[in-house]
Amino acid sequence: MTSPQKSNLSSSAGSRSTGSSNSDSSPQETKTRGGVFTEGTDRRVELFTESISIDRRLYAVDIRGSIAHAQMLRDVGVLSEEEFHQIEEGLLEIRRQIEENRFVFNIEYEDIHMNIEHALIAMIGDVGGKLHTARSRNDQVVTDFRLWIREAIDRIDRRLVDLQAAFVGRCDDDFDVILPGYTHMQRAQPVIASHIWLAYCEKFERDRQRLHDCRSRVNVLGLGAAALAGTSIPIDRTKTAEYLGFERIAANSIDVSSDRDFVLETAFCFTEIALHLSTLAEEWILWSTSEFNFIRLPQAFCTGSSIMPQKVNPDVLELIRGKTARIIGNLQTLLVLTKGLPLAYNRDLQEDKQPLFDSFDTIEAVLILAAPLVEGAVLNRESIAGRLDRGYLDATILMEYLIVKGVPQRTAHAIVGRLVRLAMERDVPLAKLPLKEFHEIYEGFDYNVFSVLGTTNAVNAMKSYGSTAPNQVRMQIDHWKKKIDQEYRELR
Ligand code: ARG
Repeated sequence: MTSPQKSNLSSSAGSRSTGSSNSDSSPQETKTRGGVFTEGTDRRVELFTESISIDRRLYAVDIRGSIAHAQMLRDVGVLSEEEFHQIEEGLLEIRRQIEENRFVFNIEYEDIHMNIEHALIAMIGDVGGKLHTARSRNDQVVTDFRLWIREAIDRIDRRLVDLQAAFVGRCDDDFDVILPGYTHMQRAQPVIASHIWLAYCEKFERDRQRLHDCRSRVNVLGLGAAALAGTSIPIDRTKTAEYLGFERIAANSIDVSSDRDFVLETAFCFTEIALHLSTLAEEWILWSTSEFNFIRLPQAFCTGSSIMPQKVNPDVLELIRGKTARIIGNLQTLLVLTKGLPLAYNRDLQEDKQPLFDSFDTIEAVLILAAPLVEGAVLNRESIAGRLDRGYLDATILMEYLIVKGVPQRTAHAIVGRLVRLAMERDVPLAKLPLKEFHEIYEGFDYNVFSVLGTTNAVNAMKSYGSTAPNQVRMQIDHWKKKIDQEYRELR
């Protein structure tokens, strides 16, 4: 998914013929203006309407789509075997030129589709003009974008597995670390660190499922819809779909050229990943402060201050959090872009590429950094343990202890509330109150109560499926390890 250098973009008529693939023929003939038009395009209009500066990134999928289309045209007898080979050779040569930076993109040919087609005709002559039979740029651009997105989804999916693997890889080492779990940013209940790591794995797993689900709707052949109504030429769309590996063929030609829901859906999938990563970023930024002092971020992922020598700043995490904004913004752009567009193709739709390309580039860059950052961070065990008895993290377990003994939940809540108030007045944890005080508030207490007090006891007392109970977390770690191994075996 590399994009060729921008310096290769020609925007002046004078430099038009400097590229080896550009002929001297007037662009007006190969553009879409033949016949009806008697005037050329205003230079300012060309600059305003071009998309080559953005969609040149689609060059490889455009060529792939064109070769498949030409193959199909040969299969149905519209192209001879010889014509197909000329077209295929020409397209492959253009791809080489682009990849070796020898191709000059020209805004006079507006977009990637016409740049390539013009170069083809310049290279192989009139037969190149047969390639655009039974298609329009409207179904061509949709096909290119679907091919590109399919690949983009697979790449992000792989990165998500790497990130999950980074979390799972910490689970054994961090298994004995108990952290305060928070709600409303207030200390709530104790949890095993690995339980938190696996919470992220679950989130990224749903992100992966969303991508897979989205991919099935992306993986549909639009080509053959032509401009909007289909074509009278006897094409065989099943062949084209087969050549391009599409699972299905779009059943309505008007639908094909009018919709970008697959682009929006992908943009949303990327947004959800970014949102999950912004939670991680925010959490770890807090954890790395002196106030929390839960985690030490790898120094290679931090930056210093130009004026305060003592500082180690979590800039990478801050930027992961910050870049979420532009990914959300791109989704918003696409939502507004497509609102209220009448059927079928409208030029507005050309604006769909930049936001999605940007979301893809951003989320990929973020994921590339997230995995090693997760691997390299170190929990500050002493600092965490030293303050675990603050915040009455065992109060809920104490309430449940009473409930199991038959005390109604509301009563148990009130009893523990009074005990916590008493402990707060004395500035001690619940486990430091003498049994006598427990008795005074509720006479049903016996010495066993101390078996659930303290964070370790509280965690060990957990039982439910999916809870932070050590045996539950252990079971989940085993599940995730097998799953990650399996994923890597399949990805290989
Ligand atoms: N550059 C255009 C785009 O990306 C290609 C389709 C143009 N179609 C048209 N009817 N002008 O949307």
